[in-house]
Amino acid sequence: MNYIKDQKELDGKIVLLRLDLNVPIKNGKITDETRINKILPIFKYLIEKKSKIIVISHIGRPKGKWVEDLSLNPICENLKKKLNKKIKLIKENIFNLKKENLFVNSNDEIVFLENIRFYKQEEKNDSNFSKQLASLGDLFVNDAFSCSHRAHASVSEITKFLPSYAGLQMETEISALKKVTAEIKKPITCIIGGSKISTKISVIKNLIPKFDNIIIVGGMANNILKFEGHSIGKSIQEHNCETIIDDIFKSSKNYSCSIIFPEDVVVGKRMEGDPKIKELDEIGNDDLILDIGPKTIKRIKDIIESSKTILWNGPAGYFENPHFSKGSFEIGKKIAEKNKLNEIFSVAGGGDTVALINKIGIFNSFNFVSTAGGAFLEYLEGKELPGIKALN
Ligand code: 3PG
Repeated sequence: MNYIKDQKELDGKIVLLRLDLNVPIKNGKITDETRINKILPIFKYLIEKKSKIIVISHIGRPKGKWVEDLSLNPICENLKKKLNKKIKLIKENIFNLKKENLFVNSNDEIVFLENIRFYKQEEKNDSNFSKQLASLGDLFVNDAFSCSHRAHASVSEITKFLPSYAGLQMETEISALKKVTAEIKKPITCIIGGSKISTKISVIKNLIPKFDNIIIVGGMANNILKFEGHSIGKSIQEHNCETIIDDIFKSSKNYSCSIIFPEDVVVGKRMEGDPKIKELDEIGNDDLILDIGPKTIKRIKDIIESSKTILWNGPAGYFENPHFSKGSFEIGKKIAEKNKLNEIFSVAGGGDTVALINKIGIFNSFNFVSTAGGAFLEYLEGKELPGIKALN
């Protein structure tokens, strides 16, 4: 892999910089800035080398449509302040852009392209689109480890058209995760939650041979409960997962890996509603499962107590509403307590998980915090991520 820090000639070069600025935003306000803070070094580095920077990022999943609520504008504004630089957000269609028109003023240093997922070609890894993107710059830098599990145009295909390099944060994340996986101590417990069921459910089977316990909470747990014959009311779920779940349970027996899922839950009638603890056979047709219940919390804490390594991706519930944050908070606090005593090695990963541990104030109780969620899990799986493969 070529690293940008080894590239000598950057003066005056236009760098297409792929970042993951997919940060949580509520009512137009960024609620966690970790992913932005982590990529400040690459800006400082490129500015010092006198490069011109074209930022490419996605936010959310607009699926090829122009969704104004998913504009990169709030992030652009945030970065302007942090870097104390003028930054222009270009809303014009990428196919109409020309390299020579981007930095006409010699003081211009940074421009942002609007959310790259507003273009349907992005997720299709479209070659023409990548070529057009590539025509805007002189070289490509991927500093977005957290979306390198996506074979998308601005992550993968673009590398066919430009000299391509790994950025500074990418290098940090990969070397830290390499170290973690090489030195990992058993028993290993992996906690997987959050709402991106489709991304994560297919990863679990490949994690089973490597870990002693896999704790499934959050959205994916709903699918497991349904598979076990329980009603899950109106809760989020992924369709057609039965075969995958069946495989997960079969494989876990072969490898003596325990699969732990909720024994009780906290439900609400609405996301912003009031909480009610329920046994699994009490969940009503109009209930939304929004957190794990007290019995489940206790079970998870006992497992953390007897583990030597904890890998955590994805909250246990809708922690943004304090009524449904107890499960996630209790898990976080238990990990922090054990880490403080030096009794476990703990790693957390993912945008929401980082936001959560910041909210609890336990960021420093983890040996490593990755900005990546899905990419973090796929890396643990032992897969070569498409974005990294492309740089190789
Ligand atoms: C993430 O938050 O994990 C990355 O930005 C990737 O987002 P995605 O799951 O929508 O591809």
